[in-house]
Amino acid sequence: MKFYNREMEINYLKTYCQLEPNSILFVYGPKSSGKTTVMLRVIEELSKRDDIIFFYYDLRRYATPTKEEFLEIFFKKGEKKYLLNTLEIDLKIFKFGIEENYDFNNIKLNDVFDKIYESIKAVIRDGKKPVLIIDELQKLKNIYFNGGKSLLNELFNLFVHLTKVRHLCNVICLTSDTLFIQEIYKNSTLEKAAEYYLIDWLSKEDVESILKDEGFTEKEIKYAAKFISLPYEISQLVNNKKVGISVEESIKRWINIEKDKIRYTIRENLDKKEEILKILSKFKDNIKIKNDDIEDELFGTLKILIENEILFYDVINGIIKPSSLTKWFAINNLLKM
Ligand SMILES: Nc1ncnc2c1ncn2[C@@H]1O[C@H](COP(=O)(O)OP(=O)(O)OP(=O)(O)O)[C@@H](O)[C@H]1O
Ligand SMILES: [Mg+2]
Repeated sequence: MKFYNREMEINYLKTYCQLEPNSILFVYGPKSSGKTTVMLRVIEELSKRDDIIFFYYDLRRYATPTKEEFLEIFFKKGEKKYLLNTLEIDLKIFKFGIEENYDFNNIKLNDVFDKIYESIKAVIRDGKKPVLIIDELQKLKNIYFNGGKSLLNELFNLFVHLTKVRHLCNVICLTSDTLFIQEIYKNSTLEKAAEYYLIDWLSKEDVESILKDEGFTEKEIKYAAKFISLPYEISQLVNNKKVGISVEESIKRWINIEKDKIRYTIRENLDKKEEILKILSKFKDNIKIKNDDIEDELFGTLKILIENEILFYDVINGIIKPSSLTKWFAINNLLKM
């Protein structure tokens, strides 16, 4: 698979991984903007050097885990305190180590955290830098340990300890759920302990230069650049062209599909139809609006549009916009009906 320019984002994350740990980093952005791909690229490039040990967990790969599954995902049984994840072929990533005879049943949360801590200490003792990365972190939301303790909340405490308090290990969390970022933002444990990094749409200039590299004609580029915002769309345009679907036709189809998805959301929430249309109409002449442009009474309905990935809520910058440019055109098409 080709990798399209994300130089700025890669440099930022590569540098971040090597900084003295001081805060938890939350990487967020519109659906399919390329968060996971960029992170994997950073791991790939940095792990060549052998002085960084990546504990990388992609929770998208798994069904929403139970407590026992969480333990199986995060730990590997063996002699060492940290062990290569041999299930990954291309990536050099590690899992926290745990003794062969360890009983995952009846384990206390503090024991789990001790094990994580021991793994991280062992990496440092070996003269290397540990970096913990969790993709789709929100999937741990509903796991509770004995006494009803929320795993996620307790993990945040551990992460603050590892970063801001003891400066032992960088922690990077990715999420495609922007309402989750809002919850994090409000979480008092994370106050003055977290940083946020946005991986956004591609710039128009980048889209144009990538399309040029991919051999599209000037005319095609001029047309497509108006509609394309995600790397995924570019690779789809390339594939579609190969099977004989023109740029114009591809984009027309995508907008139709997006429009249909929005209509579906409206039909599923008929009692909110007026409010949904009221929110969407704010995007008639604007690609983005301010959080303050949404009346408080509309916030519940706004959440439906965010959950359905029609709108992207950038809580850090106080901005709301469609999740992609094609979505924006779909909204405008729908409003004309
Ligand atoms: N820089 C890039 N070059 C080429 N393809 C890319 C690039 N970034 C992302 N893609 C492609 O776009 C698709 C979505 O990327 P990815 O899964 O990384 O996005 P994401 O932001 O993590 O999405 P989600 O919000 O669903 O978690 C994938 O098919 C990926 O291969
Ligand atoms: Mg992702």
